[in-house]
Amino acid sequence: MPSTTRPSRLRLGFAGALAALLVAAGTAGGPAAQAGEQHRAKTLGDLAQRHGRYFGSATDNPVLTDTAYTKILGHEFGMITPGNSMKWEATEPRQGVFDFTKGDEVVEFARANRQKVRGHTLVWHNQLPGWLTSRQWTADELRTVLKNHIQTEVRHYRGKVYAWDVVNEAFNEDGTWRESLFYKTLGPGYIADALRWAHEADPKAKLYVNDYNVEAVGPKSDAYYALAQQLKAQRVPLHGFGLQAHLALQYGYPTTLEDNLRRFARLGLDTALTEVDVRMLLPATEEKLAQQADWYRDLTKACLAVRRCVGITVWDWTDKYSWIPEFFPGEGAALPWDEQFAPKPAYHAIRDALKRR
Ligand code: XIL
Repeated sequence: MPSTTRPSRLRLGFAGALAALLVAAGTAGGPAAQAGEQHRAKTLGDLAQRHGRYFGSATDNPVLTDTAYTKILGHEFGMITPGNSMKWEATEPRQGVFDFTKGDEVVEFARANRQKVRGHTLVWHNQLPGWLTSRQWTADELRTVLKNHIQTEVRHYRGKVYAWDVVNEAFNEDGTWRESLFYKTLGPGYIADALRWAHEADPKAKLYVNDYNVEAVGPKSDAYYALAQQLKAQRVPLHGFGLQAHLALQYGYPTTLEDNLRRFARLGLDTALTEVDVRMLLPATEEKLAQQADWYRDLTKACLAVRRCVGITVWDWTDKYSWIPEFFPGEGAALPWDEQFAPKPAYHAIRDALKRR
């Protein structure tokens, strides 16, 4: 859609439109005014906000001491996700003993920078405390433990967390249920229970289920589609579907991403790209970085094309603090800024996509 047909332009009227044309043609205002114009919308967060979307980043507590890093983190993004500090092992290290210090630190950082927060994550098979995984639980016991964990954490962050990844990574690649502690002990009903308990504790928070390898239409995203249909029919408080989008150049781009986002929107759900990175086999070459930029551009465009895709979060913003090299040896260079905090082609590609339309 050409920008001149957007309602905001129409409302400018003739004088405003003329002024806008003159500025666009470079005949009014001069370089200083143009620089000012660029300055007002120079962050990814600002540009996304013009579309009614957010652009966010994950972060982790140890790196909050790097002031060159926090300067960009606090400035560039409208949404923050704690990469680790709201997970179960961090928040309930001993049964019934909660520790929100690290999560609070991230929330405080976001508040100070007028950023929103995505809470990550309440129910997941990874990064669970030893007390929870090292013994057997009856269904009744585990239900009590799970409800207490969810409600204590969600209550603690009530009004401070915009959206929760309530359940993370519930399905296998083929769309069958992941045999997690929760599934094995409680059956698939644990998802509806978790959502209801979270909703009770903070009725205003948006509640998501979240997973990786669900960007394309396929068995795994189909499983979420069926689950979402069911939960909606049962009036379970599910508001969004999070697509982590940990992509890798060697596995190909999920070309059905936009269609996939659209089908969840039609179910009445928000969608979000929640943990984006695009890794590659090292060393990074100019060619790979260019391809990576194309992918970042395409996924940004896909989100902007679907009204209910509410935002994009990168899983940290600089290659210096990416989780990829540690978890995928030999791979890396996955984020839009390099290890020296210099913007990569991917950064410019995201900007281009956000500036369009
Ligand atoms: C990762 C963190 O970034 C690492 O620091 C941690 O050691 C392991 O977890 N999917 C998720 C995230 O939902 O929670 C994971 O985060 C990355 C994969």
